[in-house]
Amino acid sequence: MHKIKVELGERSYSVMVGHGAINQLDAILPKSAKRAVVVTQSQIGLQPELKIDSTTVAIGGGEESKNLQTIEMLAQKFAEFGLTRSDVVIGVGGGMVTDVAGFAAASWHRGTPVVHVATSLVGMVDAAIGGKTGVNIAQGKNLVGAFWQPSGVICDLDALKTLPDREMRCGLGEVAKYHFLTGDDLLSLAMPERIARCVEIKAKIVSADERETGSRALLNYGHTLAHALERSSNFSLAHGEAVAVGMIFAAHLAHVMQRITKHRVDDHYTVIGETYGLKVKPDEKIDRRKLIDLMHLDKKAVSGLTFVLDGPKGIEVVSGVSEKHLDQAFDAMQLNEK
Ligand SMILES: NC(=O)c1ccc[n+]([C@@H]2O[C@H](COP(=O)([O-])OP(=O)(O)OC[C@H]3O[C@@H](n4cnc5c(N)ncnc54)[C@H](O)[C@@H]3O)[C@@H](O)[C@H]2O)c1
Repeated sequence: MHKIKVELGERSYSVMVGHGAINQLDAILPKSAKRAVVVTQSQIGLQPELKIDSTTVAIGGGEESKNLQTIEMLAQKFAEFGLTRSDVVIGVGGGMVTDVAGFAAASWHRGTPVVHVATSLVGMVDAAIGGKTGVNIAQGKNLVGAFWQPSGVICDLDALKTLPDREMRCGLGEVAKYHFLTGDDLLSLAMPERIARCVEIKAKIVSADERETGSRALLNYGHTLAHALERSSNFSLAHGEAVAVGMIFAAHLAHVMQRITKHRVDDHYTVIGETYGLKVKPDEKIDRRKLIDLMHLDKKAVSGLTFVLDGPKGIEVVSGVSEKHLDQAFDAMQLNEK
């Protein structure tokens, strides 16, 4: 069992990673909690056994259920159950569930403890750690939310046995990202240790920049093009799949901007394409102009086009990227274009 600490002063907490980690759940619940509401989805086969009084509420699946109506429904269930501010909400699921459970907990009585049990790979290496919670509205994803750190996180690797293949691939897209965030040789680690190392990297980034005013933005490596690809495909391309392509694009962009060597671009193909078997370009034809327009709308694009790019000093945020370089990077990727 790996125990990783997210250092945030009095809000520090542990992330337990390993097979059977769910057995540690009782031990990490806040001592004040006498009752728990477990928030989960029906397709998630992991049901925690708790020593304290508890009830389970299933929420809908998919981004369309990640909304304020779900928060209201949960608040009503919390009220019916008599959940107090010293009790605990437990999110058992992927990133959608932990984002929703976390926001419901952040709002319930102006802040009730939450513990996450991440059951998807995305949840384990990313979503359940770091305290970003929230829901979608018609105008965009995750626009309503709060920073609300969990009291603890469980990543039970046994949960991955039932994770659908495509969801696993999405998680591997995020795992691939961690290969480029540090100089670590993640490939030399077995999968459980690799996942634990990803958690450690995320924990360190969150500790250094809890509210994403600086270095936490590096976690968006590959995300500028990824968001545009997701939107232009009407979300038929899943987030992790889009991030994989987005990182390949970011590598080419860094290369045409003479920030990295061709060898480093090849490393991206090795990790993303060969190691994790992820697609390095979309099957569908892309519309380059539309993607560039969408990238201009990206929330990071405060001073011209902004990307997280590899370079001599490692990964960093680079603003004011020119359209000439974008064109050269698109050319280098040899995509099928409309
Ligand atoms: N808060 C953050 O920092 C952060 C970071 C990254 C992503 N996110 C959010 O996380 C969400 C994506 O997370 P996700 O990829 O885990 O998606 P998800 O939570 O929607 O899960 C994907 C699917 O897998 C199912 N599933 C999950 N675990 C399972 C298991 N063990 N067995 C069988 N089925 C299982 C879910 O029910 C769902 O149908 C998005 O809403 C995104 O905005 C948040």
